Amino acid sequence: MKYGIIIHGGAWDIPDELVDNHLNGINNALELGYSLLEDNSNAIDIAEKVIVLLENDPTFDAGKGSFLNALGNVEMDAIIATDNYKIGSVAALNNYPNPIKIARAIYDFDGSVMLVGEGAKIFAEQFGFQQCKIEDLLVGRELKRYLKLKNDNSFVPKDAFKQKTRGTVGTVVLDKRGRIAVAVSTGGTPKKPPGRVGDTPLFGAGAYVEKNKLGVAATGYGEDLIKVLISRRVLDFYDRGYNPLESTEQAISFLSKSVKGLGGVITLGKEGLGLAFNTPRMAFGVQTDEIKSFIGINQKDREAVPYTHLT
Ligand code: GLY
Repeated sequence: MKYGIIIHGGAWDIPDELVDNHLNGINNALELGYSLLEDNSNAIDIAEKVIVLLENDPTFDAGKGSFLNALGNVEMDAIIATDNYKIGSVAALNNYPNPIKIARAIYDFDGSVMLVGEGAKIFAEQFGFQQCKIEDLLVGRELKRYLKLKNDNSFVPKDAFKQKTRGTVGTVVLDKRGRIAVAVSTGGTPKKPPGRVGDTPLFGAGAYVEKNKLGVAATGYGEDLIKVLISRRVLDFYDRGYNPLESTEQAISFLSKSVKGLGGVITLGKEGLGLAFNTPRMAFGVQTDEIKSFIGINQKDREAVPYTHLT
């Protein structure tokens, strides 16, 4: 493969009535990303723009449409990284429309790798980002969910992955010059404790990338994804000789067996691509110089991807 892009829109039990919204959102993001790739854009710029589009789409749990935490606030995490070990990451960020843009500003500033909460807000203000109102991110669906769960003491955030809902967004981009970028953004899990940070902003958990190898973006129940360093684990299998698809399958199998975790991963590099998930569904899309646009959401769609390393 010379260049390509893969995108996910969260690994959950996505309900039938939300399938079209997911497929449309992924399709829009893929069209944007692939057209930028063909125009010779830089992998990191493409990854950022694709995630901005998905953050602005209320279908997904990122930016507009994020879940509310236990106090009824929006707290978001995001990461962007490239294959030269450059990383920008933000966590527990309240009320900004596009957390990925703040992660990108941290990446560009090249000082800290990760900023959280109030510190991230101070940085964002210094760099001219405007905070928005919670109403700008809150959609009726999430307000209803919050009111329903607020007094339900039996609910724990991991349960959400078995319920009819939706999730995090992520992408891996290999540009025409062979550079790989990864980006992921999330509103986290419903009713999460204030200050809770998931896998998304943690390099090695929510995303990982190495030069001339693979980029990886994850989704799912963050606590378990952190425990097994899911994204870095894909590279562990790859380094042991598994192909990109097998590497994702092995990592998800390890997640299931070791911590009974729930989630999915996508990966892409010159040697091919892979994706795997152990939730009922994961919205995804892929397009490369060798594979036409392919969008899917079910396990059978995942199996139908024309993986180039197999041909
Ligand atoms: N994977 C997103 C989260 O758990 O926050």
